[in-house]
Amino acid sequence: MSASVLETRDVRCTFSVRQGLFKPKRPLHAVNGVSLTLRKGEVLGLVGESGCGKSTLARMLLGLQAPTGGEILFEGQSIGRLDRASITRKIQTVFQDPYSSLNPRKSISSIVSLPLRVHKIGNPADWQNQVERMLDMVGLPRRVYHSYPNQLSGGQRQRVAIARALIMRPEVIICDEPTSSLDVSVQAQILNLLRELRQELGLTYLLISHNLAVIDYLASRIAVMHLGRIVEEGTTDTIMRQPSHPYTKALLASVLTPEPGLGVPATDLGTSFPSPLAPPPGCTFHPRCPAAMQVCKEAAPKPRAQADGGMVECHLYT
Ligand SMILES: Nc1ncnc2c1ncn2[C@@H]1O[C@H](COP(=O)(O)OP(=O)(O)O)[C@@H](O)[C@H]1O
Ligand code: SF4
Ligand SMILES: [Mg+2]
Repeated sequence: MSASVLETRDVRCTFSVRQGLFKPKRPLHAVNGVSLTLRKGEVLGLVGESGCGKSTLARMLLGLQAPTGGEILFEGQSIGRLDRASITRKIQTVFQDPYSSLNPRKSISSIVSLPLRVHKIGNPADWQNQVERMLDMVGLPRRVYHSYPNQLSGGQRQRVAIARALIMRPEVIICDEPTSSLDVSVQAQILNLLRELRQELGLTYLLISHNLAVIDYLASRIAVMHLGRIVEEGTTDTIMRQPSHPYTKALLASVLTPEPGLGVPATDLGTSFPSPLAPPPGCTFHPRCPAAMQVCKEAAPKPRAQADGGMVECHLYT
């Protein structure tokens, strides 16, 4: 088994939110005790409905959000003790919306070379060269060098975001819904590009999506998140063919529709994703779970290791 690059140990992020002007603040447990390991060279997929805490977890891994509990390790060292710049060099990100994440007033050359300039990497005379190499690598014509984001299509903008992430030669790329804002035909192209780049550069990915079909396409392992917790984890094969957790089964059912991969999955879970401000007692999935038992309403299930190295958190397996 390869070495762990990023590891979270019981990581938590609790926000304090006010629902009205005169109402007291209440805790919102966006990430509620997540332990995950990203191993060198793998693609770990993180899937779950919108609002379950995926981006908050990603932001903590990127150092953009401080955990309120638990620990994050990079190559075995606590991230809190590492210097920020050295982490940024090794962990880069590609966000969902390539438009809002690219400065509209900067040219593509300036956007892609920004990390080199900020971190004073290499020789300025060589920056143009490097940017051009990156554009080639992500399949953009060199003429976009002097273009601005609004002159490019959504797919091209996402390629720019990928080029900007890669120019630092990172080890890990965290892709948070990298294709969710793109047309379906373009989604596949970007996923293919991510796959090729990984093979070429030996990258490690954490791929985040609400869509299991997107995850299935790239990931070697999948973690399923529900209301701030990982409820099942396993190889892509196990999760896609023999899922254990009722929530994973429902997500899977939603992508086995005639047109998988489109937009928000239509789960049979009913409309209401539970509010993290008032999570259901016991197993937080119980109001929507077809297999719920009395114990599910009373006690939260504990994580249990599976024979194939995976994990499931559900009373059916305890
Ligand atoms: N800065 C914040 N302040 C308060 N609540 C937040 C903040 N960021 C996220 N949340 C809440 O945390 C929960 C998880 O959000 P998020 O991590 O964005 O989920 P996902 O990426 O899975 O859609 C949501 O209920 C969201 O409203
Ligand atoms: S613990 Fe109970 S409610 Fe939760 S997923 Fe398992 S069977 Fe369903
Ligand atoms: Mg998100």
